[in-house]
Amino acid sequence: MKKNEKQYPLIANVKLDEIGIWSEIKIAILREYACAFTKILKTKAWCRGCCYVDAFAGAGMHISKTTREMVPGSPLNALLVEPRFDRIVLIDLDAERIELLKTLCGSDERVEIMPGDCNEVLLDKVAPSLTYSSYWRGLCVLDPYGIHGKPLRWRTIKQLADLRTVDIFLNFPLMDINRNTLRSRLANADDADVVAFNAFWGGDDWIDLMYQSDLFGDLDKIGNNEKLASAFQKRLKTVAGFEFVPEPILMRNSKGGPLYFLYFASHQSVAQRVVLDIFKKHRKMT
Ligand SMILES: C[S@@+](CC[C@H](N)C(=O)[O-])C[C@H]1O[C@@H](n2cnc3c(N)ncnc32)[C@H](O)[C@@H]1O
Repeated sequence: MKKNEKQYPLIANVKLDEIGIWSEIKIAILREYACAFTKILKTKAWCRGCCYVDAFAGAGMHISKTTREMVPGSPLNALLVEPRFDRIVLIDLDAERIELLKTLCGSDERVEIMPGDCNEVLLDKVAPSLTYSSYWRGLCVLDPYGIHGKPLRWRTIKQLADLRTVDIFLNFPLMDINRNTLRSRLANADDADVVAFNAFWGGDDWIDLMYQSDLFGDLDKIGNNEKLASAFQKRLKTVAGFEFVPEPILMRNSKGGPLYFLYFASHQSVAQRVVLDIFKKHRKMT
């Protein structure tokens, strides 16, 4: 190993992510909501089953930057939820992570591990089993690293909303977007970064929201994170069609730098009430 080269923790030769306290808080929020979700739905005689979908599942295990201990990721978190999910779908693009997920979670008969791009897998293999008339209900976690590679597409968010059976948690990768696309002068962003954000946002109306033309016709940034957050919240309601979208929680790094917004969206008012309570508790820590 070269001097200063970072050594990553491995399980079965798979590189694990080192996660900060903000990711541990995210996992705690998911767990709290998932328990309320299954608890409420298990009282409904019409409900045939509760499905958990982790569209960016990850390796299943992380290392805590704070304690250096192993931390179960969102897929293992879902296995432990009580009352239990009836079906757990884990999707990841990375073949090695898929193999590790099989080792960590594959023996549970509720688990289905699906390799591939979640934008396609959700549409082809998951959505058809979660139609309104299926009487199944789902909780889908959309937790990308950023908007590059094969990122989450707006059309996928819209397809989930159209089902009317699925609640979502969505990581809006603010740091990546601010660093690469929302530059102080838009001309300084690469075309590829603008295209990537358009696909995530579902259009280019963010340009009018966040930029103003100066005397020479250059687009200068005038919008801030709060403006972006409330515009995306509104989009999830009015364009995607989720009826209930509370204000997102802003996750910050240990130096207070903004990392991402965690959004929740649902068609059920009770779901929003539960999440508002959970966000309120955790907002104090972020
Ligand atoms: C932030 S990690 C997920 C962490 C996980 N949700 C947790 O809390 O334990 C993002 C994962 O998404 C995967 N990924 C990236 N693009 C993807 C795509 N288009 N479809 C499915 N998985 C993808 C990466 O391989 C990575 O494992």
